[in-house]
Amino acid sequence: MAQPIKVTVTGAAGNIAYSLLWRIAAGDVFGPETPVELQLLEIPDAVEAAQGVAMELEDSALPLLREITITDDPAKGFASTQAAFLVGSKPRTKGMERSDLLEANGAIFTEQGKALNDVAARNVRVLVVGNPANTNALIAANNAPDLKPSQFNALMRLDHNRTLSQLAKHTGKQTDEFTKVAVWGNHSASQFPDLSFTNVDFDEKWYTEEMIPRVAKRGAEIIQVRGSSSAASAASAAVDHMRDWFNGTEDWRTAAVPSDGSYGVDEGLICGFPTVARNGEWEIVQGLELNDFQRERIEASVQELREEREAVKHLLR
Ligand code: NAD
Ligand code: LMR
Repeated sequence: MAQPIKVTVTGAAGNIAYSLLWRIAAGDVFGPETPVELQLLEIPDAVEAAQGVAMELEDSALPLLREITITDDPAKGFASTQAAFLVGSKPRTKGMERSDLLEANGAIFTEQGKALNDVAARNVRVLVVGNPANTNALIAANNAPDLKPSQFNALMRLDHNRTLSQLAKHTGKQTDEFTKVAVWGNHSASQFPDLSFTNVDFDEKWYTEEMIPRVAKRGAEIIQVRGSSSAASAASAAVDHMRDWFNGTEDWRTAAVPSDGSYGVDEGLICGFPTVARNGEWEIVQGLELNDFQRERIEASVQELREEREAVKHLLR
């Protein structure tokens, strides 16, 4: 058995955490040989509910699960943490865009960025799930000057998974048969699910008129049909992202990572790219030839990221 890994989940009493915590504790992220110590961070009003979740975790008799700490103090919740899932924040409801949450959620990520800076393990990997995820990750990274920006990602693996699944339905193949799929830009309706480099044939009209808008607006569709925002699929995507970040990938995955200036994306913006994970780091796939359609779609989403950055500039250092 390896040494236990310390993992923080914020918003531990919420919907996503109710699925995510079991996947982490069952070994789906760090593998069957790595015990897990969970550090659950909540707001004071939800600490008791988080205690109930911890009781249920205990009752699941998961052999990899070691200690569970429950707190409303970020200094305790992030102490020496090696992997942090920043889930806790308000979800949108019907009729809202994710950017409408900036005001309500932005401040959370200032405080949590500072706490991570002060007390987390120096090699911590931070995955921001709470919306608007890209700009919240930017805020957190900016408030953690002693950590590398590349230690902060935003979750766009759900968009990636949605793209794979729509493509599987369209082609009659399985989701693991496709290579070189990625989603560029913001986790918002402007995102660009890009099939230009993939290994299968598909109908162009379906791609531009059905698939792209469907994936880009899938979060809103789920809210409409389910009555509340996606939870288990978001947790599953967060598991996929963190597992691949630690373990590496052969083929492309979508990760929202700080831009290095590639493909006209302003350096530092946290943007969805085609990436591969090597040696514990995401690398943006370099040297792709982009056509006009791709450039326009990427630019439109990046422009939205710039506008979000401008809207939260008072939270950036
Ligand atoms: P939820 O309302 O069920 O749970 C959120 C939890 O966060 C609550 O228990 C709340 O008390 C807690 N919380 C609020 N502020 C906190 C803080 N400062 N510290 C710690 N905990 C805090 O919401 P949910 O369905 O779990 O969704 C959480 C977030 O994830 C939302 O912003 C949602 O929009 C987002 N989301 C993102 C993706 C993605 O792909 N990036 C997918 C789905 C949902
Ligand atoms: C999603 O994509 O399902 C989440 O970001 C939730 C939302 O608000 O759409």
